[in-house]
Amino acid sequence: MILVTGGAGFIGSNFVLDWLAAGDEAVVNLDALTYAGNLENLASLRGDARHIFVHGDIGDGELIERLLRQYQPRAIVNFAAESHVDRSIHGPEDFIQTNIVGTFRLLEAVRAYWGGLGAGEKAAFRFLHVSTDEVYGSLAKDDPAFSENHRYEPNSPYSASKAASDHLARAYHHTYGLPVLTTNCSNNYGPYHFPEKLIPLIIHNALAGKPLPIYGDGQQIRDWLYVADHCAAIRRVLAAGQPGETYNIGGWNEKPNLEVVHTLCAMLDELSPRADGRSYREQIVFVTDRPGHDRRYAIDAGKIERELGWKPAETFESGIRKTVRWYLDHPDWVANVTSGAYREWVGKQYDNFVPSPRLRGEG
Ligand code: NAD
Ligand code: DAU
Repeated sequence: MILVTGGAGFIGSNFVLDWLAAGDEAVVNLDALTYAGNLENLASLRGDARHIFVHGDIGDGELIERLLRQYQPRAIVNFAAESHVDRSIHGPEDFIQTNIVGTFRLLEAVRAYWGGLGAGEKAAFRFLHVSTDEVYGSLAKDDPAFSENHRYEPNSPYSASKAASDHLARAYHHTYGLPVLTTNCSNNYGPYHFPEKLIPLIIHNALAGKPLPIYGDGQQIRDWLYVADHCAAIRRVLAAGQPGETYNIGGWNEKPNLEVVHTLCAMLDELSPRADGRSYREQIVFVTDRPGHDRRYAIDAGKIERELGWKPAETFESGIRKTVRWYLDHPDWVANVTSGAYREWVGKQYDNFVPSPRLRGEG
């Protein structure tokens, strides 16, 4: 089996669902259920013995050690993180705790477990650290896209904390030989995306008749990747990546934010027109820019394509259409998230997911 951290969040839950749809290898899913963790994302796995949910923190070394002893995973995929740039600007502390201290504690527990494995299991073991293109900083308009060798130049507390975690993961390979793989991915979008991030926020606000906030001039560029493509890339890196290597993952889809919002408005005008027949574009408002806002990200995903044969299956047009349809088809998910009712899922669903007393250190 594998151990996934942060598997109740946006990408982690997509990964767990896709993993169990693609095969039968079980998943232990460790998640602290912060505001971004939502067990409703995993509701379709209720009663599925291949999915073991454990409510806990990657910073809890004793818990991780117990989990590793009990389940003996062959690999760890580390999604757990504080992930929202704006929140990191308002309050960096949680980012330091989870992204840096948490990753450190996780690496320490994994190092101890891995050190005790037999030679064959040791060689086959993998620690896949999921990271972001934001660690590379901001590109000027005509700069080449980020390669794996681009220097680290993080600009926000979020990206600085992710950069630190990447360095720790790298050092655990270099110093201790832990078989670490690191992936640096561009902006994801798709189902179960928390509506604090641009794409789900715009869809939600448009349908709710609220303003569509564009930071600054809206000409900041992001490189968009459909989340299922990111999950497929991670599966591929886990299966065939070389320990110690870094793989950049991206969609070859650079778009200015304003263009993304115009595309969403046009799609909503078609699929769910406003009652008054006017365009959702009329709801766009330009608001104060994000402090330190990175101007452009772009990923050169050539290495993973050449060496591991992965490339995205979705174009931006096909992925964004699927995404808009998903949000239109799941108004209850959106309503529960925006009202906070999703947190009750912990209560509703917990019986099914509660870890054994032994894991909680009570038995
Ligand atoms: P998310 O915020 O939606 O989910 C994060 C999950 O981690 C949540 O379920 C949360 O409860 C959990 N978590 C937070 N702190 C924890 C802790 N201390 N212990 C255990 N669990 C904890 O994030 P996401 O967008 O799904 O991103 C997942 C990973 O991918 C992150 O590491 C992020 O940096 C990286 N990433 C995200 C994107 C993107 O576009 N969203 C792109 C590239 C990389
Ligand atoms: O590049 C990968 C990163 O993408 C991940 O590492 C992060 O975890 C993820 O949150 C995302 O970061 P961004 O800051 O790029 O995503 P966000 O959706 O917050 O913003 C996308 C762009 O849209 C960014 O340029 C800011 C802008 N924006 C965002 C919001 C929420 C707006 O103009 N208005 C908004 O209301």
